Amino acid sequence: MSDALDYLVKARPDALGHYFKFLKDCGKHLDPKTRNLISVITKVDAQTDRGFRQYLGRALREGCTPMEVLDALLMAFPTLGLAKIVWAVDIILEMDIPEFRVEALTSEGEWHDVMAASEVRVGEVTRVECDGRGLFVYRDPHGLRVYDSRCPHQATDIPHLALDGSTLTCPKHGWAFDVHSGECIKKGNTPLKRWESKVVEGRLMARW
Ligand code: FES
Repeated sequence: MSDALDYLVKARPDALGHYFKFLKDCGKHLDPKTRNLISVITKVDAQTDRGFRQYLGRALREGCTPMEVLDALLMAFPTLGLAKIVWAVDIILEMDIPEFRVEALTSEGEWHDVMAASEVRVGEVTRVECDGRGLFVYRDPHGLRVYDSRCPHQATDIPHLALDGSTLTCPKHGWAFDVHSGECIKKGNTPLKRWESKVVEGRLMARW
């Protein structure tokens, strides 16, 4: 939400409450993916950079695939026109979301060799790069967890420096995550993306 809307909600909750109820009600018969894709398109049409990043992040978190986002953009061509579609794709490229890379669009989800499993001790967390993707790897007494380094808010690539003990804080807007569980513990409400992982012959493998 913009700072202006934030302000109005606080200053005039009686009036703005109707507006937000209207927004909530008007998509209630749509499935979540369709609702999210339409929301993304509205932000492209209005060309609001921050809103587009936010709605795109939410659409991906709630199950839309990059191909579905691209389909929605292309289907809206008659009303958006090429310039707005290019504007949106430029932002997607700037966000550098690994799932949107051309080679990733057609892959079915492959196993990647991340590191020697023994490199992370119990209670430790480390950040590694693997095949173009940043990862945080955490080991608890039960095994290893692999999280994507991209913030679930607006896909900022969270650096190693953002780690303080077991808390990972995104430098962009301050969402904080507990690496024990991946849960967001401050500001936001969405956990880190966790990748499926396994150990094979001493190597940690992760699938995306
Ligand atoms: S991108 Fe906004 S908190 Fe990470």
